[in-house]
Amino acid sequence: MRETSVTPSQLIYPLFVVPGQGVRREIETLPGCFHLSADEAAREARDAEQLGLAGVILFGLPEGKDEQGSQGLSEGGVVPTAVRAIRAACRDLLVVTDVCLCEYTSHGHCGVLRGDEVLNDPTLELLARMAVAHARAGAHVVAPSDMMDGRVGAIRRALDADGHGEVALLSYAAKYASAFYGPFRAAADSAPQVGDRRGYQMDPANAREALREVRLDVDEGADIVMVKPALPYLDVVRAVREVVDVPVAAYNVSGEYAMVKAAAERGWIDEERIVKELLLSIRRAGANVIITYHAKDFARWA
Ligand code: PBG
Repeated sequence: MRETSVTPSQLIYPLFVVPGQGVRREIETLPGCFHLSADEAAREARDAEQLGLAGVILFGLPEGKDEQGSQGLSEGGVVPTAVRAIRAACRDLLVVTDVCLCEYTSHGHCGVLRGDEVLNDPTLELLARMAVAHARAGAHVVAPSDMMDGRVGAIRRALDADGHGEVALLSYAAKYASAFYGPFRAAADSAPQVGDRRGYQMDPANAREALREVRLDVDEGADIVMVKPALPYLDVVRAVREVVDVPVAAYNVSGEYAMVKAAAERGWIDEERIVKELLLSIRRAGANVIITYHAKDFARWA
């Protein structure tokens, strides 16, 4: 009579890839997660595949940053290099890449800056080039997380023009300006140097706006739409599930993970039961797929 279930095949595991070889450094703000060079990322991905996870999503920490985030556009960059290594090592694992400039720009914003303003339209071309570089390396799915207007359409057109009609687009469609990204920004070294992301990410008070953002992305060609963060926005996950007919993803973000880990380390909570209950709640709200740092632990317990 159980209405809802969580299986490893519904989970996507985030990986943080760095330059070099043989690098495997634990991330202070995300205990149990690592900065990985491409060879180590491939090992981690093989583990994920053996555990029956749906896939991995890659975030890159480049060698150097500049105003335009140019290292993010290069086919020899950290993410394309890791994609090639993972594709060579795994057969069934879905390889998703995060498409955003904030990890590659010196100012840490998700778009091109003029003065202290983030420019929407000039950013689209750069995002499209990044997505094409990931697709050429073998990414199955590209996931724009920047929240610029019109990026789904721009990326779809660029992928198709470059012969990647089969590459799917997972859009971070309803992404809130959230304090729950704190541990990620430390892990990805992507905190904005000045200002914040409230100009392009959504106001936590708004649920109707999420539906508008989601519909726009579906119209522009998104194959999967995501709500992020997950736990404080389960009502939004449910509402989105009810208005679209594409798969819905939810991102169980770094702050949600870090809180569980910190309390578990102190022996204040039963980590396994808590994680199972949290993931179940996200599925019950209507998410078809969950991105979560707990994925490997969950698969071992399941
Ligand atoms: C990049 C990006 C962020 C996250 C995923 N992609 C950070 C942000 O928007 O500041 C957050 C993921 C997490 O907290 O786990 N734009």
